[in-house]
Amino acid sequence: MDAHEIGSGQGSAAIVDELNRRIGERFREHPFRNGVNKENFAAVSADYLAMSIAFPFIQAGAIHATYKAALRAGGDTDKNAEITGAIGAYLVWDEVGGHKLTLESGNQGLLQLPATRRNYHAHWLRRDLRTILGKDVQPHRSAATTRYLDQLLDGLSDSRRNRNVAYMIGFECHAQEMIGALWDAVCASFDLPHDERLVYFWGHVGGHSPAEAVHVEMTRMMVAELVPPDRRDEFIELCLEGYALNFQWCEAITAGSIGKASEAGSGPPRTSSHLPARERIHTSYQDRGHHPLFGVEPPELGRNRWVSLQL
Ligand SMILES: [Fe+2]
Repeated sequence: MDAHEIGSGQGSAAIVDELNRRIGERFREHPFRNGVNKENFAAVSADYLAMSIAFPFIQAGAIHATYKAALRAGGDTDKNAEITGAIGAYLVWDEVGGHKLTLESGNQGLLQLPATRRNYHAHWLRRDLRTILGKDVQPHRSAATTRYLDQLLDGLSDSRRNRNVAYMIGFECHAQEMIGALWDAVCASFDLPHDERLVYFWGHVGGHSPAEAVHVEMTRMMVAELVPPDRRDEFIELCLEGYALNFQWCEAITAGSIGKASEAGSGPPRTSSHLPARERIHTSYQDRGHHPLFGVEPPELGRNRWVSLQL
């Protein structure tokens, strides 16, 4: 490791620390925490599902957009395009279920990739929504969601001033808070315990992630490689801008859901829809004989406040 890398490594740790502090200071209460309830959950979750479906495709598109911008700039190689390409591809790979398959089954796991309904995180979410609500929820792209996803793609595709890095960090960091707040609201609204093992929620906020330290370090290294020390303040501002985009979308779909509860979540009700959510979950797991993801008792819940790419 040369002197430049050592210097930027220390600088990047300070950037990550400062960003965590500023996020905690500026975004105190997530809009889902007290804004989502039994009445509007179906409407909010229809927009949320649209985002979850779109995200891996948007991140993949951003990789290509960044590469094309680098080509237009005429350079031989572009460090931003390569690093955001590598980490963005990991995020896509994780979101389509590939990372989990190869961790669990090695190369043989690749043979399960076409079973997208089992692997995509958006399908885990559909399954949980069906269990909680007793019916299928159809994705809904409201005007706020369409605008948000367009702006997200724009941010993730813009390498100028490392805005794409900032939006990647802003998205992932906000996602952790967002899913935690939504899960807390769901538990309170549907009388579920916090150790209930719904597959999407448990997979994202339940238990301890053994790879958490690696994800935090991966984020720091990306910042170390790409953000010059004298651009620290500007970069932190861009991260906050990226975080705010996601946060404000959540505010918009929560506010927009009032009075729309009965419109969302169309689809044929399942036969168990008359049961309380808690009983539907247990009925659903008994049908399969075991939990689809976690064969063991859930470990303690814990929420990560560190800036980390891990969702
Ligand atoms: Fe995910």
